[in-house]
Amino acid sequence: MKVINMFIQTKKIEVDDFNPDISKLIEAAEKIKDDSTVVFPTETVYGLGANAISKNAVQKIFAAKGRPSDNPLIVHVSCIDGFKRYAHISDQLLYMVSEFVPGPITFVLEKRDIIPDIVTASRQSVGIRFPAHPVAQKFIELSGFPIAAPSANISGRPSPTNAEDVIEDMNGKVDYIITSGNLKFGIESTVVDVTGNTPVILRPGPIPPEKIEEVFGKVIIPDFVYGQSTVDVALAPGMKYRHYSPCVPVVLFEYKQKIDLLQISDNLSFYENPIFLFLKEHADIFESIGYDKQCIGTINNLYEIGAKIFSMFRKYEKSHDAIIIEGVPDKAIGIAIMNRLRKAASKIIG
Ligand code: TXA
Ligand code: MG
Repeated sequence: MKVINMFIQTKKIEVDDFNPDISKLIEAAEKIKDDSTVVFPTETVYGLGANAISKNAVQKIFAAKGRPSDNPLIVHVSCIDGFKRYAHISDQLLYMVSEFVPGPITFVLEKRDIIPDIVTASRQSVGIRFPAHPVAQKFIELSGFPIAAPSANISGRPSPTNAEDVIEDMNGKVDYIITSGNLKFGIESTVVDVTGNTPVILRPGPIPPEKIEEVFGKVIIPDFVYGQSTVDVALAPGMKYRHYSPCVPVVLFEYKQKIDLLQISDNLSFYENPIFLFLKEHADIFESIGYDKQCIGTINNLYEIGAKIFSMFRKYEKSHDAIIIEGVPDKAIGIAIMNRLRKAASKIIG
């Protein structure tokens, strides 16, 4: 079935993060019941939601994003019971999952028949997430069904983490956009496949592998998570696509304690109007650099860097012709930041 992409009158609703106006959320929740599409905030990135049980509604998500149909969607629920309702899960596994939710993590589980094939790209597994954001929780609860939602960006673009960015991509493509303040993590959820004996990280995110290990004992981190080998498409279907990319080239310098200033200047000089995004630890070294520059934060607070990566991409693609960025160490949430940066980069300098 082909959906014709028309301009839709998008209604915009703004609510408070912690104390949302329920009548506004009811209005959007009532609409989503007739297969409308509704963008909503989560603690990671904005999601482009529709009724996960309705094929017709889910089809509209793929059309609005221009998303390939072989990339499965995450199903969002508003209580722990949702994991049992939409997937086959043992009591022991549910107990382990409950240690992490609500929160910025998606568990891939064996799906129940009620979830249509279009959501899972015909896989036998389904990704389920119970978000912690109060607006997301209330909205899903009021809808009364699970909500399928990818990140609310046009396919391939950086995920939106603030009202302006989500309106830029989704205005005219969806029925409702619910916005609230800036999002806590600004980077998509950790995706972990728990269908086998040992959990496998399919996408690193705000919940780092060591936290998962604390509960599950052991966790597998495939090489593709670090961007160091080709992706196993059968395992991580979404990872083969171009991702997270601003409209201008991104040049990534892998994290190093000792900086080669000349190498960085050489790369900057290749562009007419580049911006250089650097770590606070190296601020004194770059003081003399005669290009536009901006500090992205310190490696002692990687959460702060993660929260602004995508919004910085969207900001500087409008004012500069290249984004040159310093990487962070591959540890904790740094693994997730580097996963996104390596995918976004057109050139990586080791
Ligand atoms: O933080 C998030 O996860 C956000 C918010 C809106 O919840 N959502 C999000 O969705 O990032 P999306 O569609 O942009 O990314 C979901 C990732 C994709 O890489 C997809 O391939 C993978 O999860 N995924 C979903 N279901 C899967 C499954 N059954 N098996 C393997 N991977 C799956
Ligand atoms: Mg996405």
